[in-house]
Amino acid sequence: MKKLLLLLLLPMGLFAQNNDPNMGIIPAPASVSRGKGEFKFTPETIVLVDSPNHKAIKFISEYLRKANLATSVTDMGTMDKKRTSLKNSVKLSLIFKEDLPAEGYELKITEDNIELRGRGAGMFYGIQTLIQLIQKSNSPGYAIVPCATIKDNPRFRYRGMHLDVARHFFDVDFVKKYIDVMAMYKLNYFHWHLTDDQGWRIEIKKYPKLTEIGSMRAQTKVGRAAGPTAVPGLFDNTPHGGFYTQEQINDVIMYAASRYITVVPEIEMPGHSLAALAAYPEWSCDAGKTYKVGENWGVYDDFFCPTPETFKALFDILKEVMDMFPSAYVHIGGDECNKVSWKKSEFCRQLIAEEKLKNDEGLQSYFINKIAKYVSSQGRQIIGWDEILEGGLAPGSVVMSWQGEKGGIAAAQMGHDVVMTPGSGGLYFDHVQSKSTQEPLSIGGHAPLSKTYGYDPLPSVLTSAQQKYVIGVQANLWTEYIATPGKAEYMLLPRMLALSETAWSLPSNKDYKNFSTQRIPRHLAQLDRNGYNYRVPVPIGASDTVLKGNKFKIELAPSVDGAKIHYTIDGAEPTENDLVYTAPLEFTVPERETIVFRSIVVTSSGKRSVSTSIKMEN
Ligand code: ACM
Repeated sequence: MKKLLLLLLLPMGLFAQNNDPNMGIIPAPASVSRGKGEFKFTPETIVLVDSPNHKAIKFISEYLRKANLATSVTDMGTMDKKRTSLKNSVKLSLIFKEDLPAEGYELKITEDNIELRGRGAGMFYGIQTLIQLIQKSNSPGYAIVPCATIKDNPRFRYRGMHLDVARHFFDVDFVKKYIDVMAMYKLNYFHWHLTDDQGWRIEIKKYPKLTEIGSMRAQTKVGRAAGPTAVPGLFDNTPHGGFYTQEQINDVIMYAASRYITVVPEIEMPGHSLAALAAYPEWSCDAGKTYKVGENWGVYDDFFCPTPETFKALFDILKEVMDMFPSAYVHIGGDECNKVSWKKSEFCRQLIAEEKLKNDEGLQSYFINKIAKYVSSQGRQIIGWDEILEGGLAPGSVVMSWQGEKGGIAAAQMGHDVVMTPGSGGLYFDHVQSKSTQEPLSIGGHAPLSKTYGYDPLPSVLTSAQQKYVIGVQANLWTEYIATPGKAEYMLLPRMLALSETAWSLPSNKDYKNFSTQRIPRHLAQLDRNGYNYRVPVPIGASDTVLKGNKFKIELAPSVDGAKIHYTIDGAEPTENDLVYTAPLEFTVPERETIVFRSIVVTSSGKRSVSTSIKMEN
């Protein structure tokens, strides 16, 4: 009876998995070999572990407890040999031997048991894969996992996601939720953009005014700041601020570490530093001036002046930062310093002459080199945006290539490590996700899911030896026009899943059709259940098109499991009250007439896609 009940309660997702070579897993594993049958979790299932205190084991134990599955976790060391070969056991054993690739794992699911072997973080990644494969039922204690053997390891060792908390502040709970979704998709570097013109968000004990003054702006530019649709002078008259105490920072670092994520702090310099100057004008080139925390977007003309006093303060700040963050990498920004206040400064003119620097680019290089030297004296390495190439790269620095790939290519050719994050590669998640006028306000460009997915971080102009310097890939979420957690998630998801596959999976295992039509719908439904917002893709099979002829067949599928497609045939904006698509539709269009089929996806939680129209003209 129980068995029957279980079968009836199986979610539909399983059937999608059956003909999907990747079994629904994102990112696509290195190799998947589907077996016959499935492992069944029952209330009697036990979890046998050989390292009960390991953080990955703690993570899966907690997951299973919350999911009401296999609540009993048993240390294999305390069991006799006979019992460890029991059927219906989930055996999680950690292998630290070199026989698996770095961060790799092997997951073997049979009808009798599940065995997971992992190397280092690989154990955690195997667990993430296992979690994706578990098909829960509505009966506590019951679930099934399809039989398979999966061997997996990442393509790149740096798999990053950035979050700008300076333009808009996001609290610790949100940051943890962000880290959670990164961990689900095997990303391992969280780049935390903590300071900028519009806000200083990290407590520095030695310089308390950085947060007392620098963390709060009087108002925020709303609406577009530049371009043909700019609305000058449109501010919200509402103060905005927030910062993290050192205790909170530490909490986030530990939280991320338990999910194998390194937090890379970014302290911006020399540009994008107006919030710091509002607190300490003496670090600028014109100490007599008063500065206010930025309220507008773009690039400001005032920033750190390369004086001994400024360097002393920055070394102090970086020391506190390095005491907080164990990351080997410290991001020091380096981008978009327009040199305006340096050009006007007598001090800078003299410094350029004394140090025999060529020009202001030379001064930028002087600045970054001094910082890099200090950071490296503390046993760490700087990362900077590609402008740190200006005037020559500091030894040991890592380049984040954002203005296309040219900076990354140049750095790799010079033997510097590189993280690729070009806006032109669909990796700027502040860019709009479709050309629909129904998309929320965004800036910068057009980055649909397919573009993010299609990016390859290894430029073919590099030799294979040079390509080794490309340590990975990252996407960035700048938040000028992202003021709420809901919008941040909308811009992040599902594009972050495409980033994950680009960062983890071999190009030969990537397949956009399989990703977007077979796997994404399942994952979005799961993200919904986990409480995430996301952009609902338009119906699968629909896109804004004009077709000519007299007979047409429209065949669609929902872009999220369990969602409905609603449509109109008079071009009107469809709503939840319009017709529901259930089967392929056939249309005959009379001569010189047009039918405009317009459709949307509405998920079971009420999220909706933008609408898309298919114009059928005869
Ligand atoms: C950047 O987008 N300014 C790095």
